[in-house]
Amino acid sequence: MPKHPWLLIALFTIGGCTSAPQVAAPPTTQVVPPVTAGGGGGNVDVQVSFKDQVVPILQAHCAKCHTEGRPAPFFMFNADGSPNRDAVAFHVDQMVEAVRSGKMPKDAPGSVSDAELATLEAWSQQGLQDN
Ligand code: HEC
Repeated sequence: MPKHPWLLIALFTIGGCTSAPQVAAPPTTQVVPPVTAGGGGGNVDVQVSFKDQVVPILQAHCAKCHTEGRPAPFFMFNADGSPNRDAVAFHVDQMVEAVRSGKMPKDAPGSVSDAELATLEAWSQQGLQDN
């Protein structure tokens, strides 16, 4: 499914509008990002970090197949192990769907926690930040 720039902008705008009041309300809770792999379920009110949160989830559950030179059809990681952010950004909604439906990880369906799935989804909804 091709993503058009206007759609990304629209999603980002909607996300910004709906999350702004929550973020502004409790400044004291902003010190430590609450989303960690295996952490509390679906607490994704703060900005998700691609390299600190998304990449470790994909390394743990997907990299052994979705790396350049391996059998899976698209590569979340390059042959040297560095993350391929553009490919992840392009496929992330499909990835969330594949995990939620139990299709992926192909060798261990159900091994991705709800919190990890929520983190991937939040990263998508927050505009696919390169952070
Ligand atoms: C054991 C190897 C393996 C692992 C681990 C794995 N995949 Fe896959 N993945 C595949 C293969 C092979 C395909 C090609 C389609 C097929 O054979 O089902 C695929 C296809 C896909 C597709 C293409 C669309 C679809 O639904 O077929 C998506 C999206 C995907 N994987 C996401 C993921 C995500 C996200 C993870 C980690 C949470 C993951 N995969 C882990 C092997 C794997």
